Amino acid sequence: MNVLDAILQRRSHRGTFQKRDIQVDDLDKLIEAARWAPSPFNVQPWELVLIREAAGKSALAGLTERAVIAQFKDAKFLDDNSRWMRVTEKAWQELGDGVLLADHVTLPKPLQDAPEKLLQGLLKNAKSFTLLGHLGAGKIPAKEIALQVREAPLLMLVTMNCKRYPPGEGGTRWMWLSMGMLIQNILLTATTLDIGVQFVSAPLERSADREQIRRLFNIPIFHEVITLLRLGYIEKDTESAVRLPTSAFVHFEKMK
Ligand SMILES: Cc1cc2nc3c(=O)[nH]c(=O)nc-3n(C[C@H](O)[C@H](O)[C@H](O)COP(=O)(O)O)c2cc1C
Repeated sequence: MNVLDAILQRRSHRGTFQKRDIQVDDLDKLIEAARWAPSPFNVQPWELVLIREAAGKSALAGLTERAVIAQFKDAKFLDDNSRWMRVTEKAWQELGDGVLLADHVTLPKPLQDAPEKLLQGLLKNAKSFTLLGHLGAGKIPAKEIALQVREAPLLMLVTMNCKRYPPGEGGTRWMWLSMGMLIQNILLTATTLDIGVQFVSAPLERSADREQIRRLFNIPIFHEVITLLRLGYIEKDTESAVRLPTSAFVHFEKMK
């Protein structure tokens, strides 16, 4: 597969995975792809923690579950979220950005068949969902996501060693940039191997949870935990995605 094909085929994989481990030679390829990411002054600030055993997966699943339940009670989080949630496939395709609500949350049955207008109205008042959150509405999606984390064949924590900063005022910015490049190398290589990857951001949103992760996995204080990925061989390729047209972000000579 050439690079452009991998870029176009890569999707965030939110479904289940085949119940088999990632083969050693495939894992080696993912690691090798990560190793060759560019970084400022070649500082290579990254480290990876690969979690294959149940204890580590369970701990991260538990943290994810608690974090999602808390998000459902957090008015600001819900409000910020609603800006990027699309309630119908049609609206999602037309707008070309954001994420499809149904891809992220299994709605309670009555809401699954609710008219678009009602769902949109509810999202506009996303803050009012905190009431539902306090009544336990977050528990079902939280359990679903936690189960996916627990059952993933491989979890990967990506960390940035802040002692390996490059010279110059912009040091930290350039380090973060290179972390993104490392992650993209992993995502594209995974695509060529039929391995699906999903970012699991919920357990990294709150600093207390990041601290907990550091302690659980012996990650030194001078590391920033950048992301958590779940990986496995794709079972069914059902993911779709949308993008803005190129005219929305490409400018020649100057921005208009
Ligand atoms: C930094 C970052 C964090 C993300 N966090 C999540 C996440 O927590 N859960 C999830 O399902 N997808 C997550 N995503 C995936 C995005 O939702 C996805 O990239 C976007 O909707 C475009 O879809 P695509 O990746 O299939 O092209 C994240 C992506 C990035 C780059």
